[in-house]
Amino acid sequence: TGSLKLAVIPGDGIGQEVTPEALKVLEVAAPAGVKFEQTGYDLGAERYLATGEVLPDAVLGEIREHDAILLGAVGGKPNDPNLPPGILERGLLLRLRFELDHYVNLRPSRIYPGVASPLSEAVLQGQEVDFVVVREGTEGPYTGNGGALRVGTPAEVATEVSVNTAFGVERVLRDAFARAELRPAKKLTLVHKTNVLVNAGSVWWRLTQEVAAEHPDITVDYMHIDAAMIHMTTNPQRFDVIVTDNLFGDIITDLAAAITGGIGLAASGNVNPDRTAPSMFEPVHGSAPDIAGQQKADPTAAILSAGLLLDHLGHPEAAASIERAVLADLTDRAAGQGAARRTAEIGDAIAARVSG
Ligand code: NAD
Ligand code: IPM
Ligand code: MN
Repeated sequence: TGSLKLAVIPGDGIGQEVTPEALKVLEVAAPAGVKFEQTGYDLGAERYLATGEVLPDAVLGEIREHDAILLGAVGGKPNDPNLPPGILERGLLLRLRFELDHYVNLRPSRIYPGVASPLSEAVLQGQEVDFVVVREGTEGPYTGNGGALRVGTPAEVATEVSVNTAFGVERVLRDAFARAELRPAKKLTLVHKTNVLVNAGSVWWRLTQEVAAEHPDITVDYMHIDAAMIHMTTNPQRFDVIVTDNLFGDIITDLAAAITGGIGLAASGNVNPDRTAPSMFEPVHGSAPDIAGQQKADPTAAILSAGLLLDHLGHPEAAASIERAVLADLTDRAAGQGAARRTAEIGDAIAARVSG
């Protein structure tokens, strides 16, 4: 019992539509005696365009004092001349991930019963697809370590240098192995490109072997990123826990979402396993400017992300009740019910399943 402080950042586009649905479900799923004290933050494109502020230090300081963060999506309208690319992505989303040390970007990928996958029956063969991507969240090519010379000239040179520290790689590997220990298949696949990115590759490879030595019961596999894309579309059952760097993990998880029923279902947690700062939960998808403001977005990914939030805060039963409610709703969808529902109607239906 007690109250949990939740920082809520709906953000932009469909983030503003799916976040209220996640909150709706969170409210009814909260365990008896647990109250959410919400603080809303209007960070995102609108605030930036109006004030030039992306994430003021004082706001970051306030957000830090919460137990968890629920985020919708960030990103303004494409090609807005007043909104240079990356301003919000780097200045808001990545800054939160870096400053709050979200080194485990957790992205579960599962084909729920009844959900249509674009993969054929010949591929699926009635077998479960259920894996989790542990994407490193604070390093790789995302750190902003690079620059540009002679911009706009034919001699322009631009670099984005991937940062891979032994500290950063080892800690995410340890987390991934620990997660593999808790899963029935007990398998971990390192995905990288050690045949070309030999410097980064060697630290990932070596530390994987070192940590593996402490986990003799885990089956360890390795795949190059390009081949992993083949296996993910022709034999996704072979994956259990995938561990990979920040950029590979970004790309893999959109494909993983696509094969498991679509981006509208893909949830994620930006987790600080050491709990030195609040973790942040958000759908894998972005602000979807193409459908924003029309109540067309599927809020399920945001709702499942709220489930991950509850689990992280030590309420696995409440988290499971959200997952069950989503499963029931997906079963209704498979039966052809509730087609063409508005965002809020899907949220209502799932919330009703939780309380019912
Ligand atoms: P996107 O994920 O926003 O959209 C990709 C496609 O998926 C679009 O066709 C969209 O309509 C569809 N889609 C996404 N979510 C959906 C949902 N819940 N229900 C139904 N359809 C859905 O990716 P994008 O178009 O590449 O990016 C748009 C903006 O979002 C960019 O500014 C990008 O930087 C940003 N972005 C933010 C995040 C984040 O906040 N975590 C993630 C990805 C992209
Ligand atoms: C995601 C997004 C972000 C990422 C962008 C918007 C910075 O694509 O959460 O997957 O690349 O991590
Ligand atoms: Mn992405």
